[in-house]
Amino acid sequence: MKNPRLHQPVMVVEVLDALAVKPDGIYLDGTVGGGGHAREIASRLKSGLLIGLDCDPSALEIARTHLREFADRVTLVHANFAQLDRVLDELKIQSVDGILLDLGVSLTQLDTAERGLSFRLEGPLDMRLDPTQELTAADLVNSLGERELIKTLRDYGEERWAARIAKNIVRQRRIKPIETTSALVKVIEQSIPAAVRSKSRIHPATRVFQALRIAVNNELENLQTALTVGCERLAPDGRFVVISFHSLEDRIVKRFFRAQLQAGKADQIWGPIRPSSEECAQNPRARSAKLRALRKA
Ligand SMILES: C[S@@+](CC[C@H](N)C(=O)[O-])C[C@H]1O[C@@H](n2cnc3c(N)ncnc32)[C@H](O)[C@@H]1O
Repeated sequence: MKNPRLHQPVMVVEVLDALAVKPDGIYLDGTVGGGGHAREIASRLKSGLLIGLDCDPSALEIARTHLREFADRVTLVHANFAQLDRVLDELKIQSVDGILLDLGVSLTQLDTAERGLSFRLEGPLDMRLDPTQELTAADLVNSLGERELIKTLRDYGEERWAARIAKNIVRQRRIKPIETTSALVKVIEQSIPAAVRSKSRIHPATRVFQALRIAVNNELENLQTALTVGCERLAPDGRFVVISFHSLEDRIVKRFFRAQLQAGKADQIWGPIRPSSEECAQNPRARSAKLRALRKA
């Protein structure tokens, strides 16, 4: 796609409700992206501060433009949200009143062919959200052993045809390394029976691409770290709001929030909250969104 679509923030009303933004509060948006949610939060601040993190420097550039008019109350940092402890220490901030994680990738990233995130676009098999990181999806696809490949596709993609796909990947890469999105899509298509493919409602490469992206970006471990560390840095009555887009992420958030409640570290949890049917009709990406929130005791 020549012009990447502009990312539309999902569940904005629900996010603001759950965060209950205080004009003098300190908020951390761990996935600032294009700055859609951040703008709504910043516009509600007076003496407060919004810290926006993203591991993708090009997302931060978009956010910087989008948040220009709030520059006096916004600090943007190139960082992984798993490093929020270090970021807050460096900013000499002890605790925050709210944290937002809107997980996954933005439409802008998905539509940028060179990032290799979309099975619909021809591009290098990259998938890194943070281009300063070394490991790419091509590295995994061309170096993991067959068993590790199967495990990755099953654990992170819940891919039913993992064994056949892994076998064909190993066979294909002996002939020529798999370096592009289209080369991988071809192997996947050859591995799934035609009758199954024709009945499926999703593209045959959906689960494999999800699995590789999660593995390349260490997404589940980073989420677990951010939840643990973030909860410790929340002030009493502070809110933690997470929007997830697939069941693996949502399960981690659900379990973590429940455990915090049981341990008495949270006094209320909400969710899953789903977007309205109007929002889903207007923004198809919202369809799989689930919001969960926690209030610190
Ligand atoms: C769905 S988009 C967020 C969109 C944003 N809420 C908005 O309204 O524009 C997710 C963003 O989070 C970033 N991201 C994903 N995982 C991250 C991580 N572990 N640390 C920091 N940023 C991350 C991605 O680069 C992407 O820009």
